[in-house]
Amino acid sequence: MAQKQFMKPIIIYFLLWCNPIFCYYSSIVSVQLNSNTIKLPSPALKGTVSIEETLLNRRSVREFKKDALSIQQVSQLLWASYGITKEMNSPSFLRGGFKTAPSAGALYPLEIYLVAGNVKGLNPGIYKYLPEGHQLTRTYDKDVRKELTEAALNQDFITQAPISLVYSAVFDRTTKKYGDRGRERYVCMDMGHSAENVCLQAVALGLGSCAVGAFDDKMVKNVIMMPNEEEPLYILPIGSPTGGGQLQRK
Ligand SMILES: Cc1cc2nc3c(=O)[nH]c(=O)nc-3n(C[C@H](O)[C@H](O)[C@H](O)COP(=O)(O)O)c2cc1C
Repeated sequence: MAQKQFMKPIIIYFLLWCNPIFCYYSSIVSVQLNSNTIKLPSPALKGTVSIEETLLNRRSVREFKKDALSIQQVSQLLWASYGITKEMNSPSFLRGGFKTAPSAGALYPLEIYLVAGNVKGLNPGIYKYLPEGHQLTRTYDKDVRKELTEAALNQDFITQAPISLVYSAVFDRTTKKYGDRGRERYVCMDMGHSAENVCLQAVALGLGSCAVGAFDDKMVKNVIMMPNEEEPLYILPIGSPTGGGQLQRK
């Protein structure tokens, strides 16, 4: 019975998917698959800002406007972080395929959470990004930006920003193959690649971000309710910069 309930939205979604109007619609809005899973709109694969302009204009931003982000912007940022760019069903450690960021041994140790405070069309709360299917799964349904700020030594721009991406890593995925070298080097290198993708994508969207590494690990882990195997690594608050956006700052 429970399985039937679970399958129902998936079957409806599949039938609707065959309809071209729905295809267009679902590429611009999110679709609730069941009470906790949300299919994100498709990311844009072409933009109007060059990679050189994003490099030139990226700056750490610590003051954000109150503006909400759109679900399309959130989708684009998450895709930049760890979206699948080459689908592969096996081996299983690829978990869906090759991604936007390189990874030592293609072992993909990162997990990425969205802390949503002010996103049009998305309830405030904590969501985990599932690169397979470009989906979000809701893990908590309250705005935790204040708690996250406290865990990050009261860096209050985290509360100001409409969203933060919070990175964790399952070190074991990489150390199983690479041992200490995996722990001391590869996992953080992986994370740097992914986080920089997000920082540059933010600039291309007219948004700003700041890498935050100064926080209390235990507190961040508690706020996000990470499973034991995950260790928190980075917080990236993202929003519209005050002062008109980085691209106009030249
Ligand atoms: C690993 C790492 C940790 C950082 N942690 C913080 C932080 O906790 N708070 C903060 O305000 N900035 C943090 N930053 C941002 C740096 O202060 C910033 O990148 C640096 O001042 C250079 O400025 P720019 O990013 O505008 O080029 C961090 C940057 C990195 C790479």
